[in-house]
Amino acid sequence: MKAIVLNQDTYELETKEVDLPKLAPSDIRIKLEAASINHHELWSLKEKDLKCKSNIILGSDGAGTIVEIGSSVKTFKINDEVLINPSINWGPDPKAQCEKHEILGYPTQGTFAEFISINHEYVRPKPKHLSFEESAALPLAGLTAYRALFTRGELESKSKVLITGIGGGVALFALNFAVASGAEVYVTSGNSIKISKAVDLGAKGGVSYKDIDWSSKLRKMSDGFDVIIDSAAGEDFVKLTELANPGGRIAVFGRTAGRITNLNPKTIFWKQLSIHGTTMGNDHEFKKMIELVCSKRIKPVIDSVYPAHKINVAFEKMNKGEQFGKIIINMKDF
Ligand SMILES: NC(=O)c1ccc[n+]([C@@H]2O[C@H](COP(=O)([O-])OP(=O)(O)OC[C@H]3O[C@@H](n4cnc5c(N)ncnc54)[C@H](OP(=O)(O)O)[C@@H]3O)[C@@H](O)[C@H]2O)c1
Repeated sequence: MKAIVLNQDTYELETKEVDLPKLAPSDIRIKLEAASINHHELWSLKEKDLKCKSNIILGSDGAGTIVEIGSSVKTFKINDEVLINPSINWGPDPKAQCEKHEILGYPTQGTFAEFISINHEYVRPKPKHLSFEESAALPLAGLTAYRALFTRGELESKSKVLITGIGGGVALFALNFAVASGAEVYVTSGNSIKISKAVDLGAKGGVSYKDIDWSSKLRKMSDGFDVIIDSAAGEDFVKLTELANPGGRIAVFGRTAGRITNLNPKTIFWKQLSIHGTTMGNDHEFKKMIELVCSKRIKPVIDSVYPAHKINVAFEKMNKGEQFGKIIINMKDF
């Protein structure tokens, strides 16, 4: 089969002919129609931190059609249209993943290939109202947003919510889910056009995180937040604790702006704040996220679709932060 393989010397992604993955009795083989890219793959490409004796085929998100079913699988049939849960081996504790947890794509073969064989437990029917491209946008970012907002952020229907860096894939799912749940949502972005687009999607307003006084502008607009979803961290994180209402929850899942070195403990304990780290989600949350998407007929925001042979260009776009929503890879066009 054709696959996009990481060149472990140059750290470029290259199309290669590789062996078809084996099919264990509990596996399903899927012909991938679409994949999407995520920032954690970009971190790996930049930090050059992956090493493996065999071919490394990245890719956490994918949707496609079942072409073969392992002998012990009873729940699917050939030609079923499906997507994949990339949160592998979460383990028994819903509160945190176990040591064996993996993000699909490394070291387990990922979705940047013509075919993938994967345990049927990680396969779910594709939402009927979504295309393959939209379905491939959903898994990792949708799951991360769902857990951050509902499990860690304890969102309630009238909550006031702040989502930072709204151009990001996870941030936009958080916006979609919060608006669909009746929350009042504000956003930040480095780009005013992205703020306008977020307002079109149901946000009440937003400010540029590049403005020196962005947090006082937000304070005037909103009068504080019950739930804050943040992927940036960095030195401005302290302002999120100042913007949080008493009893507020801040869920942080990324490190785009780097370390936090300047928190004021008094703000945290006096306002009874909860600062939650959050990563992807468990099997139950994946199921609930798909249910929410189906019941509210939520459509993922797609920035662009690239053919598989242009995947390096797609990552360059993400590297420049130019996207609004998910960047999709067409896995039929190598
Ligand atoms: N823990 C997990 O499970 C998990 C899951 C997914 C992602 N992540 C991490 O979360 C981060 C975002 O991931 P993603 O896939 O959503 O990335 P993405 O689609 O590449 O989005 C990144 C966004 O970060 C925003 N940003 C950049 N600098 C910022 C700043 N100083 N303050 C606020 N926002 C800023 C930008 O928003 P604007 O374009 O609006 O300016 C940009 O669109 C990455 O660090 C990624 O590794 C973690």
